[in-house]
Amino acid sequence: MPTNSLITLAGYSKEKLMYLIAMAQEFERHPNRKILEGRIVATLFFEPSTRTRLSFETAANRLGAKVIGFSDPKVTSGTKGEILKDTIMMVSNYADLIVMRHFLEGAALYASEVSPVPIINAGDGANQHPSQTMLDLYTIYQSQGTLENLEIHLVGDLKYGRTVHSLLSAMRHFNPCFHFIAPDELAMPEPYKKYCTANGIRFTEHKDFNSDTISGADILYMTRVQKERFSDLMEYEQVKDAYLLKGDMLSKARPNMKILHPLPRVNEIEYCIDDTPYAYYFQQARNGLYARQALICDALGITLEDIRNDKTILK
Ligand code: CP
Repeated sequence: MPTNSLITLAGYSKEKLMYLIAMAQEFERHPNRKILEGRIVATLFFEPSTRTRLSFETAANRLGAKVIGFSDPKVTSGTKGEILKDTIMMVSNYADLIVMRHFLEGAALYASEVSPVPIINAGDGANQHPSQTMLDLYTIYQSQGTLENLEIHLVGDLKYGRTVHSLLSAMRHFNPCFHFIAPDELAMPEPYKKYCTANGIRFTEHKDFNSDTISGADILYMTRVQKERFSDLMEYEQVKDAYLLKGDMLSKARPNMKILHPLPRVNEIEYCIDDTPYAYYFQQARNGLYARQALICDALGITLEDIRNDKTILK
């Protein structure tokens, strides 16, 4: 049954993305309101999370909603054999909106097809992570003043990193030039490269990672090697430290360049970089709150006009 679910941003227009950015800006100005008073948001996390779950829950709480859910599927009746459809049907009896992270690609789409309430995909396997992409777009816009004509360097695990996959399709409206920097084992998969070609998205590919390869970047998007997606841990061991961003590699960086990382960081960015003006990943994680407030409201049918006219702001 059709609901206002968010499974991927791939079909969102430029206008819709800018509209959601404007909504997030409103929430950055005034994050504490009661606009969702009386609503219940469920967070179902079948995979571990720190930022996504906590920022969705903070987003709902700061807007006056109540939150139910679980962060560990081992404490649910899934361990007794309950199937995903039944879990979704049960939770939709209790909540107005379901935020779900699942280890299976396509699980969020499936949930949206059976659920009577909207589903927000909080990550499905190595596939998509649209709420991360929304906060990434917001962060890029905030740090660069535009989303247009940017040089975006994606570094690390481009094979399993769902955040970079989501970002490609969302940026297609803004004439980006992507630079894929990864070892062969973690290279951007062919279907995503074909998607770029079909949609006129420019890209280059590199294996070298040094001050020269990143000197033209407006955005340097670092990623963690996704250990949990490897079937062969020996293969993971061989690539896990593939690319570490060191402080001295920033000597030729553009003044406006910002380093993003969806986090968690394992061994991708030297800690000394945290204190440079290039580091933007903690602000990026903070922006997750405002972007997710926008996505929750949009899924529940609350408009930008509703938010601008909202009289429930708490000072
Ligand atoms: N960026 C992100 O998805 O972080 P978590 O896995 O901690 O939610």
